[in-house]
Amino acid sequence: MERSQWGTRAGFIMAAVGSAIGLGNIWRFPYVAYENGGGAFFIPYLFALLTAGIPILILEFTIGHKYRGSAPLSFFRMGGKKAEWLGWWAVLVSFVISVYYAVIIAWAMRYTIFAFNQAWGEDTQAFLFGDFLQLGDVPGQTGDIVWGIFIPLVLVWAITLGILLAGVKKGIEAANRIFIPTLIVIFIIIVIRAVTLDGAMTGLNAFFEPNFDAIMDPSVWVAAYGHIFFSLSVAFAIMITYSSYLPKKSDITNNAFITGLANSSFELLAGIGVFAVLGFMAVQSDVPVSEVATAGVGLAFVVFPQIINEFPGFNGLFGVLFFLSLTLAGLTSLMSITETYVAAIAEKFGTSRRKAVAFGGGFAALLSILFATQGGLYFLDLADYYINQFGVAAVGLVEVIMVVWILRKADNLKDHANAISDIPLAGWWKFSLGVITPIVLGYMMFGLLRLNILKEFDNDTGNYEGYSDMFTLFGGVSVAAGALILGILFSLGKWHKSHAEFEEEK
Ligand code: ALA
Repeated sequence: MERSQWGTRAGFIMAAVGSAIGLGNIWRFPYVAYENGGGAFFIPYLFALLTAGIPILILEFTIGHKYRGSAPLSFFRMGGKKAEWLGWWAVLVSFVISVYYAVIIAWAMRYTIFAFNQAWGEDTQAFLFGDFLQLGDVPGQTGDIVWGIFIPLVLVWAITLGILLAGVKKGIEAANRIFIPTLIVIFIIIVIRAVTLDGAMTGLNAFFEPNFDAIMDPSVWVAAYGHIFFSLSVAFAIMITYSSYLPKKSDITNNAFITGLANSSFELLAGIGVFAVLGFMAVQSDVPVSEVATAGVGLAFVVFPQIINEFPGFNGLFGVLFFLSLTLAGLTSLMSITETYVAAIAEKFGTSRRKAVAFGGGFAALLSILFATQGGLYFLDLADYYINQFGVAAVGLVEVIMVVWILRKADNLKDHANAISDIPLAGWWKFSLGVITPIVLGYMMFGLLRLNILKEFDNDTGNYEGYSDMFTLFGGVSVAAGALILGILFSLGKWHKSHAEFEEEK
């Protein structure tokens, strides 16, 4: 069977950038940067980008291009059964992320509609948790389905799976060619408006003011690495899958630099936009910026609607543009996350793309209904915490150790990339992957395990967010451990005969 291919180089870059730019860039980055030293955060951020983010991106692009398969197939071709499980683990981590990521996009979609007439009213916090999410009191109980989330969720999956059904070139590439330029134009409009608001400078000062004490704190470095992985979509199986559709003659390193820099530029733009409006809000309500800056869900779905209410004009328009940009950024990432398991299922079992989308995507869509219930937010919060810490970061750590130290493929991959790329890879690449990244990530994982095992969380039960032991075990620990265990189980089966044979070029 002919392998799918991107139509053009720009199409591939657009898709890779579309995957990288996601929910993480728009509201995760500004807050993470602010909380971890503001202007001083850029030092660990750049360090993590240059020593881990871009080197791993180059690594994944090279693996996908050389072995021409989904993540499990590429790892199998590189190192046999000893390596295949790692590909499945990454794919299953992506599977879990797709299940709740879709729900956040569904919220954004619904909020795009609310934004027309600011249907969220004056008390945006009560609206989000009460009227919209109908959040129950007891974490771990599902309660009823919330139809106001369920319906947009069906739409999110219909769009995503419809695009994947259309294929790599006609579906993913075509969609990104429309969504990404639209997203960038919308976002530039928002940022221009944001920086011209009264008080914008107050927000930007708070954002960029360096707190140099922070860079001496190891947790700030951990935050920088964690964010770079999430933001660049590395250690998700995504970039291996996407680059496996590249034509033989394709630049690797240059494409990786373009993707990495485009993602970071967008992220910086988002940071500027978000803090400019936070500054506006702070000045309006006469409080310091630190009081209006909150994390995650709160920032996008409570503070932003509040700010939109206060806008001097065109409130509806700016509200719609903001939530539309969140929806578009989310959709282009969700399609890449879902493509990881669509490709893996199709190859392992030798089925058509259509069947793989129906089974894999359909199953993910079904599971995501859990997060569209009254207890959904608690499940989402817990799954997100565990899968990011013990999924993405752990996969990244094992991946570099596997390639550099166990399979000893770094030189071979470097030659492969250099033979087709403009920018030659030198010693820094292998040193970053083999030495710097394992040390920093190893330290990070060790610290996290200690935190979880010794239960040093600052709350009543000693669990993350004070959740009960049972809920933490079922909703978090078992989800993260399940991805690893199922990954190993999947790797035990044989490859469909059409994919088992592969001649490695020397
Ligand atoms: N890279 C994607 C994001 O930032 C997953 O949301």
